[in-house]
Amino acid sequence: MQKSLMGTHSGIVGVGSYLPEKILTNFDLEKIVDTSDEWIRTRTGIEERHIAADDEATSDLSYNAAKEALEMSGIKPEELDMIIVGTVGPDYAFPATAALVAHRLGAKNAVGFDLEAACAAFVTGLTVGDGMIRSGLMKNVLVIGVELLTRISDFTDRNTCVLFGDGAGAAVLAPVAEGEGLLAHFLKSNGAGGEFLIQPGGGTRNPATRETVEKRMHYVHMDGQEVYKNAVRGMVEAAKSVIEQAGYTSNDVDLLVPHQANIRIMEAVRKRLKIPAEKTVINIAKMANTSSATIPICLADAVKEGRLKKGDLVLTTTFGAGFTWGANLIRWSF
Ligand code: ACO
Repeated sequence: MQKSLMGTHSGIVGVGSYLPEKILTNFDLEKIVDTSDEWIRTRTGIEERHIAADDEATSDLSYNAAKEALEMSGIKPEELDMIIVGTVGPDYAFPATAALVAHRLGAKNAVGFDLEAACAAFVTGLTVGDGMIRSGLMKNVLVIGVELLTRISDFTDRNTCVLFGDGAGAAVLAPVAEGEGLLAHFLKSNGAGGEFLIQPGGGTRNPATRETVEKRMHYVHMDGQEVYKNAVRGMVEAAKSVIEQAGYTSNDVDLLVPHQANIRIMEAVRKRLKIPAEKTVINIAKMANTSSATIPICLADAVKEGRLKKGDLVLTTTFGAGFTWGANLIRWSF
C-alpha cells in the first residue's frame, strides 16, 4: 500500500495490440454459410476478421498485446502492481488468465484477475485500474481486453458468425500530472437484457453435458435487433455522461473511440453526439467485432497512425452483453 499516491491521477502511458495472423474474409464465409460479402459489408461494415491459430489461446494474445504496451510505457513487468484481463473467454474457467499472463510477462509483484463485463470489460478495467491508482493502493496497472470469439461462434448460424473476430489490446495505467489521464467514467448494467446476448451452456445454470453440446448451447446466441437498439441508446448515454461530468461538450472531443460492433451502430452514436467522422476511429472492416479488445486495439492503431497527441481529449464508449455499458473520458498524456 502506497499512501503517498493518494489522490494521484492515472493515465494511459502505453498501448499495444495483437491480431492473429490468419484472416477469414467475407468471401471465405460465403463458402461456409448462406451469406454474401455484400450483405455483411452493407449491414455491418465488416470485410474480414482475424482468427487465432489452433495452438493460440487467450493468454497468448494477451501476452503479445501486453508486451507491446509495456515497451511503449517504459514500465518493467516487475513494476506492475495489478493485471486485469477483460474477457468472456479465458484459457480455463480457472485459474485466471491474468495470473498466467503475469507469470509469462515476469510480473512477479502483480496480482492478476479476470474481469467479465463482455464488450464493456476494457472500459470497466480502466475504471477499476484508475480507482486503484487514485486510492493509493496501486501504482502501475495493466489492463487487457482480449477475445477469441470465433471459438464460441456457431459457423452454422449466419446471424452471428459473420460478426466476430479474435484479437487483443492492452493499456498500461500509471500516475500522471493533474488534469491529464482519466477524467471521468460511466458504468452501468441491466441484467433484464441478459437473454438477448448469451452463451447459455457451460456455466452453473447449464453445466456442460452431451445434451448442451448437441443443442449448440456453448455458442453465442443473440437477438441482433434488441442488441442494436440498446447499444445505440447505451453508448450515447454513457458518452454524454462523461463529457458532462468533466464539464466539456462534444465539440471538445478530439477523438471518439467507439466499441466496434457494427458500422451502423457507430455512425448512429457519432451522429447523436454530433462528432464528425474524421474524429472517429473505425477499424471494423479489417477486424470485425473483437468485443473487449476493440477499444484498446483502436487506441493502439490511433497512436501508431499518429492520430493521437499529448493533450487530446479522447472519448471511449461501449455496450455489450449483460447488458453492460460504459465510457471513459481521457486527456491523453503522451
Ligand atoms: N447473411 C445474409 N443474410 C443474413 C445474415 C447474413 N450473415 N444474417 C441475417 N441475415 C438475414 C436475416 O435472416 C433476415 O432475413 P429475413 O428478413 O428473410 O428473415 C435479414 O437478413 C435481415 O435481418 P435483420 O436481423 O433484420 O438484419 P439487421 O439489419 O438488423 O442486421 C445485425 C443484423 C447485423 C446482426 C444487426 O442487428 C446488429 O449488428 N445488431 C447488433 C448486434 C451486435 O453487434 N452484436 C455483437 C455483440 S454485442 C456488441 O458488441 C454490442
